[in-house]
Amino acid sequence: APTRYEAETAPAVCEGSIDNDHTGYSGSGFCNGDNSTGAYAQFTVNAGAAGTATLGIRHANGTTSGRPAGLIVNGTTLQTLPFAATGAWTSWTTTTLTVPLNAGSNTIRLDPTTSNGLPNIDYVEVDAGGTTQPPADT
Ligand code: GCU
Ligand code: CA
Repeated sequence: APTRYEAETAPAVCEGSIDNDHTGYSGSGFCNGDNSTGAYAQFTVNAGAAGTATLGIRHANGTTSGRPAGLIVNGTTLQTLPFAATGAWTSWTTTTLTVPLNAGSNTIRLDPTTSNGLPNIDYVEVDAGGTTQPPADT
């Protein structure tokens, strides 16, 4: 099962403010990044073992344009995510992708490439795979 990392929960970093004025978010709020290039949101996530993990990134973008951002994992930019318009600031959608993670702690940074900054970011979920052990026989 995935582990959810809320944007409002330390050690996550939001270069902007944690807001709660658009409903539909998880937890107690979301990251409203400053509207500028490089105003990032960063998550620190754990993986039990090195390997490929599935990420889910939830955003809302109430404008009519994408809010592209680099996906930077442990300091390496892997791709640019488009963070398309969602129709309203209260409409949230999840982007799913796979990334390589190290065993233990990893940083995932969303780094906007335009002066519009990030969309609003609710959380990142990480599924590092593996199986849950069934209860032992007694
Ligand atoms: C509005 C909206 C914010 C959003 C901002 C933006 O101010 O209320 O939640 O972050 O637009 O354009 O980034
Ligand atoms: Ca913003």
